[in-house]
Amino acid sequence: MNWFPIELDSLKYFNHSPVCIYLELKENNKYIKLLKRNSPISSAFLHKYRTKNIEQVFIEASDKGHYQKMMESVLMKFFDKRQKKSYSSFQSYEDVHKKTHTHLASIGFSEASTNLAMASIADLKKTISDDNNLRELFVHFKNTEGTFNYRLSYMTSVVAHILVRQFSWCTPEISKSILYAAIFADMGLSDDLVLIRTESDFSSTVLSKEDKEKVYYHAQDNAKKLIDKKGIPSGAAKLINEHHGQKTGVGFTKFIANGVSNISICLLLSQEFSFYILNHEEKDVKYEDFVEHATKNYTSPRVKSILLELGKCLVNKLA
Ligand SMILES: [Fe+2]
Repeated sequence: MNWFPIELDSLKYFNHSPVCIYLELKENNKYIKLLKRNSPISSAFLHKYRTKNIEQVFIEASDKGHYQKMMESVLMKFFDKRQKKSYSSFQSYEDVHKKTHTHLASIGFSEASTNLAMASIADLKKTISDDNNLRELFVHFKNTEGTFNYRLSYMTSVVAHILVRQFSWCTPEISKSILYAAIFADMGLSDDLVLIRTESDFSSTVLSKEDKEKVYYHAQDNAKKLIDKKGIPSGAAKLINEHHGQKTGVGFTKFIANGVSNISICLLLSQEFSFYILNHEEKDVKYEDFVEHATKNYTSPRVKSILLELGKCLVNKLA
């Protein structure tokens, strides 16, 4: 039989198991059934395996499609319910965003999951317009549990969305495109691979052939997945393709090509800023220090002018 791994934690969204759930016995490479299809899932059951440090359980590979549909439907219900409630804070609802991000990353981006992605992004957009305390939100992204990819993607989308609004060329379509692009730019990369951001990171990190190709082509690959997807703003794919400064969507560069759009540079610098904050040990980060770091990594004159705008809007929002 073929198996598909799922996070034990994702079962907490179900009252009843949508498929049979198995545990892998590492000592003899066998699988034992933990739950039959439609069995109730209790908090005691989840607690029992969490305390044994079990993070991953398995389903039969043939059940994968059904499980994914059920997962999407259960997460969508949370977003639907949420829209009817008055908005309190992003933090209280973050777990559903995390789960959505993990779910989309594990299944790859498909048309079936577009509604879920749109619901998560609509909810995030509401946070950005409602939340006046940006500093608190940034500290939260820094400290919250969840993959680095999740924290970087969501923080980047907040920063990028605020940044593009400063420019006279910004339209609602651009603002929407950059939100999607920020969320999906690094989709499918493990946290180790997300840390690779420059040519020098790439050449100095020991990687398998498969991981090398994955990280080198991720911008182009993720852009292709979004092209012509119903419901996804048409500009998002181009932004993803260019989010490491290359027009081709391949590799990394410090010399941003002339053909790369200013909107793509906004995405690149928003991700660079978020990356800098998330990796910085000190509590308070000086914006000037970030500018020095960013101008070393990227040499285009357009980078300097966009950094200036980013500084202005963050100073206003962080005050
Ligand atoms: Fe990337």
